[in-house]
Amino acid sequence: MKKDFLSIIDIDEYELESIVTDAVRLKRLKCAGTAHELLRGKSLGMIFEKASTRTRVSFEVGMTDLGGHALFLNPQDMQLGRGEEIRDTARVLARYVDAVMIRAYEHATIEEFARYSTVPVINGLSDRLHPCQVLADIMTLSERFGDLRGLKLAWIGDGNNVCNSWILSSILTGMEIAVASPPGYRPKDAVVDQARAAGSRVSVVTDPEEAVRDADVLYTDIWVSMGDERERAERLRALKRYTIDSRLLARAPPNALVMHCLPAHRGEEITDEVMEGSQSIVWDQAENRLHAQKALLLRLIAGGMPSAE
Ligand code: CP
Ligand code: NVA
Repeated sequence: MKKDFLSIIDIDEYELESIVTDAVRLKRLKCAGTAHELLRGKSLGMIFEKASTRTRVSFEVGMTDLGGHALFLNPQDMQLGRGEEIRDTARVLARYVDAVMIRAYEHATIEEFARYSTVPVINGLSDRLHPCQVLADIMTLSERFGDLRGLKLAWIGDGNNVCNSWILSSILTGMEIAVASPPGYRPKDAVVDQARAAGSRVSVVTDPEEAVRDADVLYTDIWVSMGDERERAERLRALKRYTIDSRLLARAPPNALVMHCLPAHRGEEITDEVMEGSQSIVWDQAENRLHAQKALLLRLIAGGMPSAE
């Protein structure tokens, strides 16, 4: 049966470990310049309702590295943009390509697509979740720490799609998640409840200083996500105490790392000084999108990476 990746918990902890292991192997092959065309002749359709730099380029280059091909599909240039139904598009594309990645405004669009697609569907970001980002982030932290169990991540600011995926990922990694957000900008209750019901330690507080105390990792994301542009002024007002700056970083342990999924708005959710500082690992995160997604594509399209490769 085909497997989709709409949420980070569509894989279990063993699959996560195996994807991260494969991603590290793929990174070594890429860095050594060793060919690894394990998806020769395979195609990935990529539908983007919203803008993208990292997701688009990493999936496209990833398919090229693997000897396959990626198609960038703008809904405005497709019949989708003229009213063709998602379920019809899904069934037709599945007869041409080996997997589909979609970035959509509404999570329900991706769910509907997956329901009708007979090939694997990957969530490239929705209003609710961003599992590919968190997959690459987990790889990035594994490179630094090895075992992630018991590490604490402090999420500072808007409890958005990336935050929701981080909370769910704690079910697989055993990490503790402490979210500091103002009222009205907290992660979804259903997501927090689901993680807690599975045994995760998730706290949601108002004070960023409380969240970063004892944290191994500080994480933030833009205050105005794609689709939230009309709320810009009120978001900036509500979130202004939630900047990761050197003063907040000084409240965390001295070795704490700083993460951001990017794009960043320096001077809003993070200062230039912190982003460019020695504790920031944002470029490693961005790079690992490529390696982690290649491992994911191999698993979904070919059942995994051959062990001798
Ligand atoms: N982090 C991330 O998904 O970046 P893009 O929006 O550039 O794809
Ligand atoms: N929360 C951001 C993530 C961008 C990668 C957004 O949805 O726009």
